[in-house]
Amino acid sequence: MGEKGLREIVAAETNLSDIDGANGRLWYVGYEIGDLARNASFEEVIYLLHNLDLPTQPQLDEITAFLRTERNLSPFLARMMPTLAQNTSPMSMLRTSISASSAFDPDGWDDSPEAEYRKALRLIAITPTVIATYHRVRTGQEVIPPHPTLSHAANFLWMLHGQTPDPADADALDTTFTLYADHTMNASTFTARVVASTLSDMFSAVTAAIGALKGPLHGGANEESMKMAEEVGKPENAEAFVRDRLANHGKIMGFGHAVYRTMDPRATVLKQMSRELGERRGEPIWSDIFEALEATTFEQKGLSPNVDLYAAGVYHVLGIPTDLMTPLFALARMAGWTAHVREQYANNRIIRPGSEYVGPTDRVYLPIEQRG
Ligand SMILES: CC(C)(COP(=O)(O)OP(=O)(O)OC[C@H]1O[C@@H](n2cnc3c(N)ncnc32)[C@H](O)[C@@H]1OP(=O)(O)O)[C@@H](O)C(=O)NCCC(=O)NCCS
Repeated sequence: MGEKGLREIVAAETNLSDIDGANGRLWYVGYEIGDLARNASFEEVIYLLHNLDLPTQPQLDEITAFLRTERNLSPFLARMMPTLAQNTSPMSMLRTSISASSAFDPDGWDDSPEAEYRKALRLIAITPTVIATYHRVRTGQEVIPPHPTLSHAANFLWMLHGQTPDPADADALDTTFTLYADHTMNASTFTARVVASTLSDMFSAVTAAIGALKGPLHGGANEESMKMAEEVGKPENAEAFVRDRLANHGKIMGFGHAVYRTMDPRATVLKQMSRELGERRGEPIWSDIFEALEATTFEQKGLSPNVDLYAAGVYHVLGIPTDLMTPLFALARMAGWTAHVREQYANNRIIRPGSEYVGPTDRVYLPIEQRG
């Protein structure tokens, strides 16, 4: 048997993203992640992942206009939201809402490439509205309808907080979306591709991906990182916290990676953003704590931060509740998941790995009264 956890197994060819784990590098369709984080809007990244080229201005205008017109919740989802807000956690709500939204997609069961592209964009467009509406409803606040002209990131802050966001805050959020948009064959993307490979529909594939992202070893790590920083409380406590946790064989959330052997390049961008944002907003304490955790975790275990550590710091300072941090990861990764699903459809073979049987052999059925 190969290494546990399908390490080193190539499950698909992709044009979307590539990682050099040894050197801590990541590219989307050939563009280095730092270049895109500095220069591209999330809308440009969505276009890039779905069309394998950066858009021209008319192409960007067209995709932006389509995304903006598709932001509204269907009446069905809007009616479900009070029940979901009362009874389910944010990721369970998101999984259910995205699944339920399939009933109202105007393209229905049309599985032409054009219809699949429109479905993908609708899923991307609706996710921020689902998350913000849920939060407004569960906190007893008036629901803010999507803004007709704001960007994907600014509109999310608008719907969540009910105020036009500071452009620098919207830019910071936009950059986190770019950083989270795709990441080769991570667990949730693999899940989406497995479902798509059975020629099941886009909504089923993405719903399953949300389920995979929910776990604390994958997308749940940003929330766990924030809770850890709150528990640490001040930078001076970081060293003892890490020592205790490692001594108890616990995980330090936001550290380590299945592929990177150096610092995750997304964490490098987020670390700087978290510091700048924290200082601008008068809350540098979180960067102080995360940086202290980084230094001591490296010293004690040789582990470097992954994307989730400093993303938690950025989201917290932007006023995002901790339990919405994984849904925001999903919001951004919706771009990658849907692009992978379309790529799978375009060159499909059902994904069906083998297994190695390690149980007992040559057993003979005994009637129940003779067992025990
Ligand atoms: C991401 C993760 C699941 C990768 O797991 P993996 O591929 O099995 O990791 P590795 O093979 O590099 O692990 C090597 C060793 O370091 C340990 N390790 C890895 N990450 C660790 C962490 N964050 N805290 C403590 N120990 C960790 C492993 O337990 C393993 O120890 P062992 O050899 O004694 O069994 C793992 O690093 C982790 O659980 N991180 C915390 C959760 C997280 O931040 N997830 C978000 C990922 S983007």
